[in-house]
Amino acid sequence: MEESEVMSTMESTLLVLAAVLKDLQTLTVAGAQWGDEGKGKIIALLAPLFDFVERFSGASNAGHTAYTPDGKKIVSHQIPCGLAAGKTCIIGRGLMFDPVRYADEYREASAILGDSVPQIWIDNQCTVWTPWHTILESWIERQRVKRSGKSINTTKRGVGPMAAIRDFRIDVKTWDLIGPRQKLIEKLDGIYENLKLLLEAELEARDCEDCLQVPAEVAELLLASSDLLARDVIDAGDLSRKELMQGSRFLFEAAQATMLDLLAGTNPFVSAGMSTAAGAAYGAVIPPKYINEVLLVAKFYPTRVGEGPFVSEIWDRSTAERFPEDHKELFVPSRVRDEFLARTLYRINNESASPADISQYLQVLQYERGASTGRGRSVGYPDLPTLRYAVEVNGSRYLALTCLDAMSGLDQIPIVVDYELPNGSIMPRGSMAVTDVLFETKPVTRVLPGWPKDIHGCRREKDLPPAARDVIRLIEQETGTHVLIVGTGPENDAIIVRPPKGSLS
Ligand code: GDP
Ligand code: IMO
Ligand code: MG
Repeated sequence: MEESEVMSTMESTLLVLAAVLKDLQTLTVAGAQWGDEGKGKIIALLAPLFDFVERFSGASNAGHTAYTPDGKKIVSHQIPCGLAAGKTCIIGRGLMFDPVRYADEYREASAILGDSVPQIWIDNQCTVWTPWHTILESWIERQRVKRSGKSINTTKRGVGPMAAIRDFRIDVKTWDLIGPRQKLIEKLDGIYENLKLLLEAELEARDCEDCLQVPAEVAELLLASSDLLARDVIDAGDLSRKELMQGSRFLFEAAQATMLDLLAGTNPFVSAGMSTAAGAAYGAVIPPKYINEVLLVAKFYPTRVGEGPFVSEIWDRSTAERFPEDHKELFVPSRVRDEFLARTLYRINNESASPADISQYLQVLQYERGASTGRGRSVGYPDLPTLRYAVEVNGSRYLALTCLDAMSGLDQIPIVVDYELPNGSIMPRGSMAVTDVLFETKPVTRVLPGWPKDIHGCRREKDLPPAARDVIRLIEQETGTHVLIVGTGPENDAIIVRPPKGSLS
């Protein structure tokens, strides 16, 4: 398709979305499952309809893929995906900020966007990362493995320790990065004195006793980006409240997802922040009355990286995690890859494929590896119990159902309709069992007919095969939501918008 054609189809898509969302001052976009649902693309798509795009949670552990209107790919970690759409961005107080990675991210964005990098405001009270957080994290993970044999398998961005040290109220804040150097060192001293014994123990265990950076060295590292931050660190809570009061429209961007939320997710196999819509007001430091509506992004088949229960998982996690590393040739466009996909799909449709084959097929087809860490993502069958729970937790009326295109060509689609608990009962709808129980829980699966037609890039509902339309309707019935957006590919224009009846009048 010509670039001008892409623009015009995108314009008409946006006009429909603008009409559907016209009465909302704010929209919060959150993930339904274990992350990587495609939040980035949906946020970049919707950004033109809002005045500000604000990230309210997470840290550099997130990896959100978005495309600019002319098709350039940007992977955001801390910068909101409004970036790709050239919209003013805000990094809210709920995000735990890594200035070193931010500088890299900003540089990469500048290389892609040139002069059109939009304004990015950063709240002056975000908790700041130090290298000590990362060391502390590996110490805690090591102890966890010693005790239980299982780590969380984090992204190694120091997220848990950042949240913990924030709770101790001895953390460095973003304002310290643009203030006097001596004051920053004093604050770093406070953290260092508290952590020194643990840090030394961890470094000794790694045979790296000389690696411990002292406060003055850490200050140098953190201050390297202070010129970049100087003009942009502000009281973003104040800015947001004033703008909201004057009627500005905000798109709130969650990181991670419902099942990785510290409280709502499968604790302890979660991240350390607020990943549901409830975190938007808290993380942006605005009144909850401004959280008008939630668009939950749900990947048709869920994926998970790291440890933790995953009832609908198709195959073994650790093998799936290593798979892209062991088979690099399948994760770049090539003839070998095409042949692998064709061969495996044939086996799946002829019932001679193992769960490993099905999982690998989806991993390869969808390049399932983490946007932040490169780890292979383990794949699950479409999972209604998790989706029903996520809808209840987030109170969402709308779903963006992504990656439906990945099912094209499958004769049958197994879908998890219920969870059977260890005592033989069915988990009540909308609830979620505790983590230990989930490890022993079995999926109850129903097989739906698939569709042979490749729906990649499909833009109109009427062009979808009846079986694909039935799947969408089933998800709506099961969750009590309206599927507003269907993703049919990673590209910006690979999208179907389904306005609810009466919303365009
Ligand atoms: P996020 O963390 O939720 O923003 O998601 P990620 O960017 O980590 O991962 C989502 C991946 O799926 C990215 O590679 C996207 O380009 C891709 N993606 C998003 N939506 C779709 C879709 O509807 N179909 C397909 N095939 N890929 C999609
Ligand atoms: P986005 O925003 C997928 C997972 C990690 C690990 C657990 C805890 O791109 O969807 P952490 O480093 O946060 O302490 O790790 O959470 N995890 C994610 N998985 N997408 C993410 O973000 C994730 N952020 C954290 O793999 O299991
Ligand atoms: Mg991601």
